[in-house]
Amino acid sequence: MAPVLDLPLNVGQIDDVQELKKGRKTKIPIRFVRDVAERPMLAATPSPLLSSIPVIDLKKLMSGNKEEFHLEILKLSASCEEWGFFQVINHAIEVDLLEKIEKMAMEFFMLPVEEKQKYPMAPGTVQGYGQAFVFSEDQKLDWCNMFALGLVPHSIRNPKLWPTNPPMFSETVETYSKEIRKLCKTLLRFIALSLRLNANVFEEMFRESVQAIRMNYYPTCPRPDLVLGLSPHSDGSALTVLQQGKGNTVGLHILKDGTWVPVQPVKNALVINIGDTIEVLTNGRYKSSEHRAITHKEKDRLSIVTFYAPSYEVEIGPMQEMIDESNPCKYRRYNHGEYSRHYVTNKLEGKKTLEFAKIPPKKS
Ligand code: OGA
Ligand code: NI
Repeated sequence: MAPVLDLPLNVGQIDDVQELKKGRKTKIPIRFVRDVAERPMLAATPSPLLSSIPVIDLKKLMSGNKEEFHLEILKLSASCEEWGFFQVINHAIEVDLLEKIEKMAMEFFMLPVEEKQKYPMAPGTVQGYGQAFVFSEDQKLDWCNMFALGLVPHSIRNPKLWPTNPPMFSETVETYSKEIRKLCKTLLRFIALSLRLNANVFEEMFRESVQAIRMNYYPTCPRPDLVLGLSPHSDGSALTVLQQGKGNTVGLHILKDGTWVPVQPVKNALVINIGDTIEVLTNGRYKSSEHRAITHKEKDRLSIVTFYAPSYEVEIGPMQEMIDESNPCKYRRYNHGEYSRHYVTNKLEGKKTLEFAKIPPKKS
């Protein structure tokens, strides 16, 4: 992942959520209790119409007949424009592999805390075990334990953070990541086609894409109404692939037209979302939607998230094809490495990070 802050940070005490749960019965430490405006309001049920994000069948895009392909590509384009999210089925990744990575992740999170802390996430950094995006003593904490690794290019790897326990963990991460990388490349080709662009445009532009993995474990919480599993944010990637644990409850919420919409898990599907890079490249046509995770009183939850982004050297800005008189250029050009650094050195706060690239609209 991108370079990190050089300054020593005082982030205060960061409690390990799983350990916290062992010690206390129902009281939530104040550092996890959100201000009223940020609390998830779990009682309000969104309209059923809103409650499902589109499902894209990759088989129809890969090998369907002309008509099927056409319909599916239109659906893909509408999903990226309206939601910035979709779930992909028939993605060709073996169910066994999805189950194996989930098993490895759960085995890792269930290890004694001393074992997990052999791979600590240093304050202000984003790899290892702990809580990312915490920069000050008074910042609220998420009800989540994370474990993250930079994968590609090799230069972003920190070998000291690769667990030797569970024994098959690292090998499984390698195999899984190769498959997810192929999927990202395939999806980007179809996303390009859905924009009527050359299929290779993103891969050629991105050069050796950066890839990272983050496993998020959300333990049960006695007061899900007071805390957040993961603060609202958009992803700094080009594309994100999120695998939810089998049989997971609803936990991921997307902000759509001002309402938090829960994502209903679909069996063996992967959740895909557009990150900030594609929003900028498409001049805002495809959206990097704000999302968050909530917790549950009785059920824990796991997500395994892959971030796929351009090489740090690449310059990003809206593509010429996406700009015309009715769509004036909304973002400036910038270096992606600089954006990554900006992203990982600021707390998660809705779509605030993307202000980095926004050109203020002209007053008329
Ligand atoms: C993320 C993310 C949501 C979830 O890791 O960036 O949005 O459901 N996770 O875990
Ligand atoms: Ni996210």
